[in-house]
Amino acid sequence: MPHGTEKQHCPYEAVQAATDLYGPVVLHPVTDRRGSAVWRAVGPDGTAAVKVGFGDAALVTAREAAVLDQMRLPWYRTAHGDAGDAYWIVTQWFTGPSTREAFAAVRDGEGDRRDAYRAAVDLCRTVAGLHERGWVHSDLQPEHAIHTTTGVRLIDMSWSWRPGFPPSPRFVGGVPHLLAPELAASIEAGDRPVMPSSSAEVYALAGLLWTCATGRWPLDYGWVGIRPHAIGAAGLRQAISVRGIPLDSDRPWPELQHVLKDVLLAPASERPTATQLTDLIVYKARP
Ligand SMILES: Nc1ncnc2c1ncn2[C@@H]1O[C@H](COP(=O)(O)OP(=O)(O)O)[C@@H](O)[C@H]1O
Ligand SMILES: [Mg+2]
Repeated sequence: MPHGTEKQHCPYEAVQAATDLYGPVVLHPVTDRRGSAVWRAVGPDGTAAVKVGFGDAALVTAREAAVLDQMRLPWYRTAHGDAGDAYWIVTQWFTGPSTREAFAAVRDGEGDRRDAYRAAVDLCRTVAGLHERGWVHSDLQPEHAIHTTTGVRLIDMSWSWRPGFPPSPRFVGGVPHLLAPELAASIEAGDRPVMPSSSAEVYALAGLLWTCATGRWPLDYGWVGIRPHAIGAAGLRQAISVRGIPLDSDRPWPELQHVLKDVLLAPASERPTATQLTDLIVYKARP
C-alpha cells in the first residue's frame, strides 16, 4: 500500500481499546510517517498513545508489541492487536519533556544546566537499568525518552532486543548519525541479522546527549566534505565505519561534552558501560 501524503485512519479496534482504558476518547494526531502513525487519545479518565503501523510497517509495530509484552515494564499498560492491513498498540500517554526538550536551555545558551543535567543522569540510569536486565533499546534518539515526574519512559521499542529474543531482520542500526562505528562496519560488511549491543547503545546514548546539547549531530560531516543527504544512510554508515570524521567543534557544555567525547572516540572494548557513563556525568558535569 502506498504511503503518500494521505492521512491514515485510526482502526476502530484501537479506539475501542483506548476507550476501554480511559473512557470515550478524542483523537489528536501526533505523527504520521513511514507508514506509522501516532495519536494522542484523550478520554475522561486519562490519555493514551495509540500507535498504528500500516502495510509493511505493521510488522514493525507488531514486533514493538511483542517487545513490550516481554519487557514487562511496570508502568507500560498496553493493549495491542491486528486490524487487517494494520497493527495497533495502545499505551498510556507519558507526560513530560523529551530529552531534547529538557536540554532547551543549554542549546539557547541560557546558562542554567540543571534540568539538562538531571535529564542526562536520569536517562543514563534508565538505560543502565535496561542493560542490567539484558535488554538493549537499539534506537535511542533525543525524542525516544520522556522525562515524567515519576521517571524516564523509553518509547519506540520496535528494534529492542535481548539474548534469546530474535533480532528483527528489518533492523539496520537505527539513526545512522548515532551509530557506533563497529556496528556501522558490521552492517556495511553485510552481517545479518544486525546485532544490537549494549556497547553500541552507550555510543548512541553519548551521541544523543551531545545532540541535545548542541542541536547538531556529533560528527562534523562538513569537515570531511560529506553531505549526509547526498550519500544516504548506507553511504553515511560506510563513512562512519572508517572513523575518519572528527567531532563537531561546538562546545556549549564543555564539561559534559568532554565526557561524551571520550565515549564517542573510544574503541568499543574501552567504552564505559551505561552505569559508568552515569557516574562520569554525575562527577564531571554537575552544574
Ligand atoms: N506513550 C507515549 N507518550 C507520549 N508521547 C508518545 C508516546 N508514544 C509516542 N509518543 C509521541 O509520538 C512520537 C512518535 O512515536 P514513536 O513511537 O517514536 O513513533 P515512530 O516509529 O513514528 O518514530 C514520539 O516522538 C512522541 O512525541
Ligand atoms: Mg520514533
